[in-house]
Amino acid sequence: MNLKPVSEILPNTKVIIRLDTDLPIENGQILDNSRLIKSLPTLKLLLDKNCKLLIIGHRGRPQGIDNNLSLKQAYVELMALLEKGQNIYDSVFIDDLNDAKKIDLALAENNMVFLENLRFWPGEQNNDPKFLENLISLVDVFVNDAFAVAHRKQASIMLHHKLPAFYGINFIAEANAISKLIVNPDRPLTIILGGAKEDKLKYLPELEKIADQILIGGKLPKLIDQEILKRVQDDKIRVAELDESGFDLSQNDIEKFKEIILQSRTIIWAGAMGMYESEDDRNGTEEIAKAVAESNAYKVIAGGDTTASIVNLGLKDRIDFICSGGGVILEFLTKDTLPAWE
Ligand code: 3PG
Repeated sequence: MNLKPVSEILPNTKVIIRLDTDLPIENGQILDNSRLIKSLPTLKLLLDKNCKLLIIGHRGRPQGIDNNLSLKQAYVELMALLEKGQNIYDSVFIDDLNDAKKIDLALAENNMVFLENLRFWPGEQNNDPKFLENLISLVDVFVNDAFAVAHRKQASIMLHHKLPAFYGINFIAEANAISKLIVNPDRPLTIILGGAKEDKLKYLPELEKIADQILIGGKLPKLIDQEILKRVQDDKIRVAELDESGFDLSQNDIEKFKEIILQSRTIIWAGAMGMYESEDDRNGTEEIAKAVAESNAYKVIAGGDTTASIVNLGLKDRIDFICSGGGVILEFLTKDTLPAWE
């Protein structure tokens, strides 16, 4: 892993930059803007160099154009964060990716052009080599500062194959922090898996070789394949039984998980323990957040809802490292490399 830092980009360069724009949003409220905050150092560095920025990102997993998953709100939030330092930037949001002329003109007239959710078009997730070709022709270099999606082989993550590529300040910091974790973690090492994304479960056999304990909550207990469980050592893996509603940890799960958490020397937590977006099903996540914060282990947490729970409980300072993505940390831990730089 030898990632060229964004600091090597020359002044006045035209940059296409991939950011982590997938924010947890509920009823129109951004629950946590940490992913945008993490991109500010890179953006400010490039803006100070008078670079033009074509900002790209995704939100959720839309099937075609879906206004509920627009990036407009992330754009407004990012501009508010950037302009807090009193700098005023010219920027515009463009929702039609196909209008290269309009985008080119907008780039000439503005410091930043922020584009709509790339996943509205199938080319992004299919890693179609033609998707984004129009945009590539408008810029000089690619910057990736979207560590949360560095494990996805998708068009906007693979632009390092098409343009001179640099990596953002946060991207490099996250990659370095996780690679240190791989080398020689203090033991016992506990991995806590949660959230709603079934694809996390495919890492289980490999994670079992790395971890001393694996705790599974969130929606995953409902999705777990019994065949996977049979192939791994049962005593290492604890799957939550969930409460009566089936959307949160039971009190019994909370007690069992807490006991293991408090004995751990390294903790990696990826994914909320209940349906965090619903206030009624936050108890498990919040109890686990408090136990993780209280433990004396080296603590890494990952993912949007996990981070939101820690931030909203005011426990951020008790965590050693916050990784912006859940899936990416599991991929990196188990494969020791990531598609974003392969
Ligand atoms: C995340 O939230 O972990 C990233 O945005 C990746 O999203 P994905 O799992 O839909 O690719």
